[in-house]
Amino acid sequence: MATIAVIGVGRVGSAVARTALKAGYDVHVSGSGTADDIALLAEIIMPGARPMGTADAVLDADIVIVAVPLNKYTSVDPSLLEGKVVIDVMNYWAPIDGEISEFEQDAATSSEVVSRHFAGSRVVKTLNHIGYHDLEEHAIAAGAPGRRALAVASDDEPAARLVMEMIDRFGFDAAYAGPLRTGRVLQPGTEIFNGAFSKAELEHELTLQPASQA
Ligand SMILES: NC(=O)c1ccc[n+]([C@@H]2O[C@H](COP(=O)([O-])OP(=O)(O)OC[C@H]3O[C@@H](n4cnc5c(N)ncnc54)[C@H](OP(=O)(O)O)[C@@H]3O)[C@@H](O)[C@H]2O)c1
Repeated sequence: MATIAVIGVGRVGSAVARTALKAGYDVHVSGSGTADDIALLAEIIMPGARPMGTADAVLDADIVIVAVPLNKYTSVDPSLLEGKVVIDVMNYWAPIDGEISEFEQDAATSSEVVSRHFAGSRVVKTLNHIGYHDLEEHAIAAGAPGRRALAVASDDEPAARLVMEMIDRFGFDAAYAGPLRTGRVLQPGTEIFNGAFSKAELEHELTLQPASQA
């Protein structure tokens, strides 16, 4: 069974860890401290997930999910994630993150900025546009009527395809959104961020966004 490492086990990270466990993955979780610091939390709210330090958690992980606040992303050591498929679930919210000039002024999308930090990793943007509670409540089997879809953006299409398989196992259809620069259409304030869509609806939304404006 493939292994997913979740870095940051707050609201999103713990919901993702539970979802991944339910989907049959081996799940490693890490916080900003030691494995012992999150052992009780893991036992109570993510039973089955293995608490570890981040270096150990990611070592043999097939997919790493970074679920820390965006104002903390540089506290995750990029050398640990070299060559890894890394999912960026983070959103920039100035009222929560504080004003960060690179996200305020940079013409790049937030995931492009994040990917510069994780330059040796295969960065994929997804799971940012679903509430952490909906991740568990909206998951349903493949083929079930009304199944919700999530968009997946990456400059590395094979990495995106691997993550799309994970999204399917999590209980959602997946739509490829194109490279990270198109991730702008998944960011806070957009139709896709604010809505819930079937795969056909989501693909239609994505076609409304030419790459040049995305
Ligand atoms: N809320 C949502 O529904 C939602 C949905 C999709 C995406 N997002 C995005 O997901 C991100 C996380 O949101 P959240 O609501 O889960 O935040 P949160 O509840 O504050 O949890 C963040 C966790 O990250 C940990 N952390 C911080 N630095 C770390 C590091 N270097 N290594 C490992 N763990 C670290 C924190 O642990 P410590 O306390 O030990 O620092 C905390 O447990 C945000 O960017 C948010 O915008 C949120």
